[in-house]
Amino acid sequence: MHEIIDQLNEKRHRAALGGGEKRIASQHAKGKLTARERIDLLLDDGSFEEWDMFKEHRCVDFGMDQSHIPGDGVVIGYGTINGRMVFVYSQDFTVFGGALSETHAEKICKVMDHAMKVGAPVIGLNDSGGARIQEGVAALGGYADVFQRNVMASGVIPQISLIMGPCAGGAVYSPAITDFIFMVKNTSYMFVTGPEVVKTVTHEDVTAEELGGALTHTTKSGVADLAFDNDVQALMMLRRFFDFLPLNNREKPPTKPTKDPADRLDYSLDTLVPDNPNKPYDIKELIQKMVDDTEFFELQANYAKNIVIGFARMEGQTVGIVANQPMVLAGCLDIKSAIKAGRFVRFCDAFNIPIITLVDVPGFMPGTSQEYSGIIKHGAKLLYAYAECTVPKVTLITRKAYGGAYDVMASKHLRGDVNFAWPSAEIAVMGPKGAVEIIFREEKGDPVKVAEREAEYKAKFANPFVAGARGFIDDVIMPNETRKRVCRSLAMLRGKTIQNPWRKHGNIPL
Ligand code: HXC
Repeated sequence: MHEIIDQLNEKRHRAALGGGEKRIASQHAKGKLTARERIDLLLDDGSFEEWDMFKEHRCVDFGMDQSHIPGDGVVIGYGTINGRMVFVYSQDFTVFGGALSETHAEKICKVMDHAMKVGAPVIGLNDSGGARIQEGVAALGGYADVFQRNVMASGVIPQISLIMGPCAGGAVYSPAITDFIFMVKNTSYMFVTGPEVVKTVTHEDVTAEELGGALTHTTKSGVADLAFDNDVQALMMLRRFFDFLPLNNREKPPTKPTKDPADRLDYSLDTLVPDNPNKPYDIKELIQKMVDDTEFFELQANYAKNIVIGFARMEGQTVGIVANQPMVLAGCLDIKSAIKAGRFVRFCDAFNIPIITLVDVPGFMPGTSQEYSGIIKHGAKLLYAYAECTVPKVTLITRKAYGGAYDVMASKHLRGDVNFAWPSAEIAVMGPKGAVEIIFREEKGDPVKVAEREAEYKAKFANPFVAGARGFIDDVIMPNETRKRVCRSLAMLRGKTIQNPWRKHGNIPL
């Protein structure tokens, strides 16, 4: 018995050492933590239950039969974050560069299968050289097994990827299917082909960081949601982020008690919208003043900044916020912003998170660049997402709601449950200048007449009352009472149930 316990201790010690002290030191020298150190920081103290610590690969080619490291380059198991269950896998770069073998993939699949069974999220900490080259197609098959589970879990349990090292080739597609991707600056990168292949094929000289680093994916491609300075910050922020999410699609989002009164008035909001309709203001000021304790967890903050998305709480309950940002491109909807917001709306809908939409949108972005790139199809994504969505939807028009963009932004017609407007709202087919140029084209040469017509158009449409008279707006509210009215609406909507007709799945314009 003693002997077996000694063996067990020895095996545990070996597994815990991963690829050995030298490789751990090299990992630290790069500013990276090890797979186990990361799990320790992510999960509540002492909550981690590890599985398959002793599992080893079965490859015998290229000398691999001589090289076995228990755990095979990935640490898996479950634990809690602030007391709530989560499954985790953490790739260990010190073991064969974190490369994915058949065995390594089986371990990831194991946590995913259990997470689906019990209804708890999966967090993947990615740090891997990709498919284990010595294993060939067995490793490729392992990836596909993971992809299949990612897809089956989509919309059932939240899936979050934290990229903390290399993630290249087909390996990027598992994170790509997950709901959120976070990256670490300077030490993580994602690309389908690395800089050398790029050089050979397209003759471009580009570094790994430029091609697929955290800044690239959070500012240019929109592949990742947020970039953090280092492993510790990323893991701490991930813990905070996790608290907003329900554990699965059958649960309501969690609530966090707050002392912030639901009926708190904020008179500074009465002057947020400038008198000049062409002057911008920061929609984030409204968000912060409306939500509990000013806490707004913004996602994709540096990508498609003309729309703002993120999580907050109202009376303790998680809400998703989508808001046009007048500070950037006047808040126009373009391809990037429609895709960014559309995917976020679908996440909220899948996981029972009510959506607050703040509207100040002069329309869709005009121009050949947008048209040639498919604004029609991509803009339709956001429309589709809102129209399909059955969670509580509270919409507030702060200023402009013009044209198709009025319809798209959770209007009454797309089953907005409660639609408010501030007195500064202007709801019309287009702005006064454009409208007069079209309907009074013959008066174009006469500036006095044009000014008169514009004033007439403004008087008729630059207000919320035409929409109010039709019931498209439920009430015109004072900006100072926004929090109170939105909280009440959400409380009223807590019991909301509506169902879309049965279908295998819709055909969102991809
Ligand atoms: C086996 C690998 C490996 C891999 C790294 N290693 N990647 N072993 N299969 N894919 C091993 C190295 O041999 C080395 O072992 C150890 O991990 C650390 O790697 P280094 O190269 O020393 O580290 P570093 O200099 O930091 O470079 C990291 C790296 C590089 C950029 C990731 O290792 C690299 O380019 N690896 C290959 C990446 C790749 O092309 N993968 C396939 C992608 S295609 P020793 O024993 O020397 O320490 C793919 C297809 C998936 O993944 C398809 C899914 C459908």
